[in-house]
Amino acid sequence: MKLTIVAATGGIGRHLLDQALAAGHDVTVVVRNPRALPAEVRVVVADLAAADPAALEPAVAGADAVLSGLGPRSRGDAGIASRGTRAVVQAMQATGVRRVVVVSAAPVSTVASPGRPHPPRHDPGEGPVMRLLATPLVRAALRDVYVDLALMEDVLRDSGLDWTVVRPPRLTDRPQTGRYRTAAGRNLRRGVLVSRADVAHLMLATLDRPETIGQAIGIAN
Ligand SMILES: NC(=O)c1ccc[n+]([C@@H]2O[C@H](COP(=O)([O-])OP(=O)(O)OC[C@H]3O[C@@H](n4cnc5c(N)ncnc54)[C@H](OP(=O)(O)O)[C@@H]3O)[C@@H](O)[C@H]2O)c1
Repeated sequence: MKLTIVAATGGIGRHLLDQALAAGHDVTVVVRNPRALPAEVRVVVADLAAADPAALEPAVAGADAVLSGLGPRSRGDAGIASRGTRAVVQAMQATGVRRVVVVSAAPVSTVASPGRPHPPRHDPGEGPVMRLLATPLVRAALRDVYVDLALMEDVLRDSGLDWTVVRPPRLTDRPQTGRYRTAAGRNLRRGVLVSRADVAHLMLATLDRPETIGQAIGIAN
């Protein structure tokens, strides 16, 4: 397949790139800092904090799918997920590319946004400890990051594209296993960790699973 990987220098993004190349895909990457990238990938350099969608059109034109590991490097970067994803979506709409898979986060399932003003109060995957203690603490600490990711999910829902959102819990750098649990539209019971490598594995696997279109998928090891 012809794939465009956005933010291929990040933790998940680098796994997406390595796994896509290992599977024989033809890859274009969109990065703001083109360092240490394999020679065989086409590189489009763009700072997605202020990206002109027209400048991204050559990066996505002709792609079978766009995969994105875009997210804030620090709390101060909150806003980048929705802003950058909006620019990528506009470039896809302009070039007729339909399939897009992006990373969000597990706590976003219960975060209200303009496009989803009444999310469930509790995620069905949460047990009592998560519901009463862990989720409220994490959500309070990272509120601006999750609001940005919820807005990013709105951008996709409004896009008319064939989108899938993957919502991982806390990410680790453990090796790829391919053994992880998933659930459509909710998080996983006792699902507190997942490796970046397995998130990338699921994102690539969704490309062969049309039933994941229009879904937010929970994942956990
Ligand atoms: N950390 C967790 O436990 C956790 C849990 C659930 C969900 N998440 C979500 O998952 C996302 C991905 O995780 P990760 O560990 O792979 O993140 P990461 O290593 O921080 O990667 C973020 C990627 O976004 C790129 N980026 C950031 N700002 C950009 C900009 N202005 N223009 C272009 N590219 C930009 C970075 O590029 P550079 O390499 O140039 O900086 C990098 O490639 C997180 O951002 C978060 O939203 C995280």
